[in-house]
Formats: sequence, C-alpha cells, structure tokens
Amino acid sequence: MTEIILFGIDFSTSSVIKITMIQSPRGMKDVLPPESGKWERLERTASGIFSSFGYKLLVTPVVEKTELFVRSVGEATDVVSKEMYVFTDRGGESICLRPEGTAPVMRAYLNSPELKSRTMKAWYWGPMFRYERPQKGRYRQFYQFGVEAIGSNSPYIDAEIIYMLDHFYKNLGILDVRVELNSIGCELCRPPYKVQLVDYLKSKSSELCEDCKKRIETNPLRVLDCKSETCSSVIKNVPLMGDFLCSDCKSHNNAVLKVLDDCGVKYSENPMLVRGLDYYSKTVFEFVSEQLGGRQNALGGGGRYDSLSEQIGAEKIPSVGYAGGVERTLLFMNDEDKKACDVYIAMLDDDTLRACAPIVFEAKKLSLGEDINFIDDDFKVRDIKKHLSKADKLGARFAIIAGSQELDSGSLIIKDLMLKKEEKITMHKNDAKRSAEAVVRRLLEKKNS
Ligand code: HAM
Repeated sequence: MTEIILFGIDFSTSSVIKITMIQSPRGMKDVLPPESGKWERLERTASGIFSSFGYKLLVTPVVEKTELFVRSVGEATDVVSKEMYVFTDRGGESICLRPEGTAPVMRAYLNSPELKSRTMKAWYWGPMFRYERPQKGRYRQFYQFGVEAIGSNSPYIDAEIIYMLDHFYKNLGILDVRVELNSIGCELCRPPYKVQLVDYLKSKSSELCEDCKKRIETNPLRVLDCKSETCSSVIKNVPLMGDFLCSDCKSHNNAVLKVLDDCGVKYSENPMLVRGLDYYSKTVFEFVSEQLGGRQNALGGGGRYDSLSEQIGAEKIPSVGYAGGVERTLLFMNDEDKKACDVYIAMLDDDTLRACAPIVFEAKKLSLGEDINFIDDDFKVRDIKKHLSKADKLGARFAIIAGSQELDSGSLIIKDLMLKKEEKITMHKNDAKRSAEAVVRRLLEKKNS
C-alpha cells in the first residue's frame, strides 16, 4: 500500500516534520464515482426484483451481540474464530461488527411478534465486516445484498430464490454465472455421515494440509472445500453426503431440482459443495463464475437453515436464504447502459448560462426516476472543443449545448455523442418548465430509440 508523505514546518522548533496522509483502514475502501453508479444500479435492481417476488426491505443494526454469531454461524468457523471485529462496549457487553446478515434477520424476526405470526420474506443490503487478508474481491468491510424466507419448509421457496437470483444476475447483464447445488442433510442424517467422513479423514490425515488436520476435529465438512493441492487427492475419494441423505432430505432435494428443471434454470449439482457457516441443512447453493478464479469464485451463497432459530434460543423455524457480495458482483457488471443516459451540460458563455440555468435545474427535477443522469456540470463556461473533450472523457452519451447563437434563436442543442448527431429544441421564453419538459422528453425518446 502506498503511503503519501507530506512535509511541513513545526514553527515551535522551526524543524521540518513529516505529516503522513491518512488512508482508509486496510481492506476497507471508498466507493467513488463512476463505480458508485454501477453500485446504485445494483441496489435498484435488487430492490425492484426482490420486492416484485414479495421480499420486503429489512434493516438491522451494524453491531450485534457477539453471542448471536457464536451460536448461529458457529464457534469453529473461520468467520467466528478468526475474522470477527469484537469489542467490549462502555457497559461491559461484548458486541461485534456483523460479519453476515442472516443471523441478525432471524433475530429481528424472533423479536417481532407481528413478523413471527407468518412466513416472512425479507431482503437487505448493507456493510458486513470480516478481518480477512484483503485481495481482489475480498475486503474487511464489504457489502452484501441478501434475501431470507423465514417460516416455511417448502422446497418451492428454495427453488423460487434460486430462480429469482438467476433472473437477477441476468438482468444485470451477468450471463457468465452458474448455480451449484448440493444437499448437506439434516440433524438426522448428517451425524452418521460425519462419523464415516471423520474415519476416512483420520486414515488419510498424514496427506492433509495443516488446516485440514485441525478441521477433522473441529469442522470436518470444511475439508471438502479445501483448495490446497495437498488435500486434493484425499478429497477426490471422500465419502459423500448424497449417499447418506434420509428420505425427507432426499425428497426435498429432488423437489427443488424438479422445479428448477421445469423452470429451465441451468444448475450443476456439486456433491463437494459445503458452506463456511455452520447453520445450514438440506439445500446449499452458490452462484459462481470461473472468471473470478481462486478461492473467491463465489458471487454469493446460501441455503436452508432450519435449525438456526433453535441455536439462538427459539423453536425450530424452517428457513432459507442467500447473500451476494456487492463488490464481487460489480466486477462483472459493465457500465455501458449507465452511460447510455448520462447527459453533459455545455454552456458556451455567461449570458447563455444565466438564461439556461433555470431550464437545467427544471430538467434535473423532471428526470427523477427516469434513468437520466446529469453528470459533472460545474457550470463553467468553456469553448465547445473543451466541453466536448470533457464530455468524452466522462463517457457521456448526450450533451446539451447552448451559446449566443442558440440564445438569439431561442433554442438548445441536444447532441448524441455516440451517433454524432445533433438537433435543436425550442426554448420557451420565460417558461423554464416547458423548455425543460421538451428537453427531457426528447432525451428519453432518443435514449429508448
Ligand atoms: P457467505 O458465503 O459467507 O454467506 O457470504 C456470501 C457472499 O458474501 C460471498 O459469496 C461473497 O460474495 C461475499 N463475501 C463474503 N466475504 C467477503 C469478503 N471478505 N469480501 C468481499 N465479499 C465477501 C453468508 O454470509 C450467508 N449469510 C448467506 C446466506 C443468506 N445464507 C442464507 N441466507
């Protein structure tokens, strides 16, 4: 990481002192334009699609009691044992920055008698914190969007969530993702499987990496997920959960796959897929892309967590959900369609600027919700060459141009910078609203044509 060092003079001693520029904390980044535009589009698409499937926004605090995650995500998981930001507050209580959103959503559901009276479908969006080694696609503060359906054991909900996410990624123009699925059984069929798995792993322990040797005792299923070369030959011949599923888990899994087949969702069954958090049972799934590569190939993951509510002190409430990483999703989104409606304002002299400013203000007001963005108008007067080169650098699709000629003839120019075509729009004297309406109408027609 580069450190910027400035020099200053300490006047009390007249000596030169070093002043270090303050950087953001390691693994935590600013979201700046133009990337923030893609960020906004992602949030809008999530909100639009999830609400149309009946998922309502739910917001929980960024901090929670540490115990919530210790009991649900699991003490032996990397997230809880190594990655949580835990501290004691002024009242002496152990609290932490939330590492994920599922346990908080369940806690909120259990705390609300009104929500608890029915199946709840919720979506969320917000920052999560994990003290990991930062790299591309992996941060210490990262954002997740997520959906949770709490209160139903229907396999149709598992399938609906997968179907909805498949549609979500396609809608964002991300076609290179596929969903991988597995069933990791339930509290009835997993324990006998674990016994077999542990026996097998113990017999091969000398061939395992140091982490996996420890996992045999703490979290044997995670060995299946190990990406180290050392473990690959052991993992190849490992006993599989699929051969141990009880009849309930088997029929649930078959029902999910049948609905996905009927809906034409392409998926691959991955018998090695396990998840890094302890609360799952039955269906687990991940949306992955080879483009991401390495250990960070998951855009998101989820599954059933029928026992999580019991782990945090309530009755059993069958549930299923998913969370996607915002930063990882952004890596796949192009910004072409965002640029398609970016508009640059080019005023050529002071008199024109004075006359047109009310029209520009009105046009901005009118384009609210219309997917038109006015970009970087600093209201500086420049010559046309400088304006157009700036608009080009910013990737604007349209420029609204006016100078003394346009002012005299009572018009404005809309220039399509992609098609290199321009046209005149009539300005209505002393009626900024009417002029702005004409500009916005024409921009929308051009954008959609
Ligand atoms: P997770 O697999 O731990 O699941 O995280 C979901 C997604 O969050 C990951 O696939 C990845 O895209 C993103 N993510 C995780 N850690 C980082 C990081 N350090 N930097 C950037 N992105 C990251 C959960 O969190 C579960 N709560 C998902 C769920 C919802 N299960 C049921 N409902």
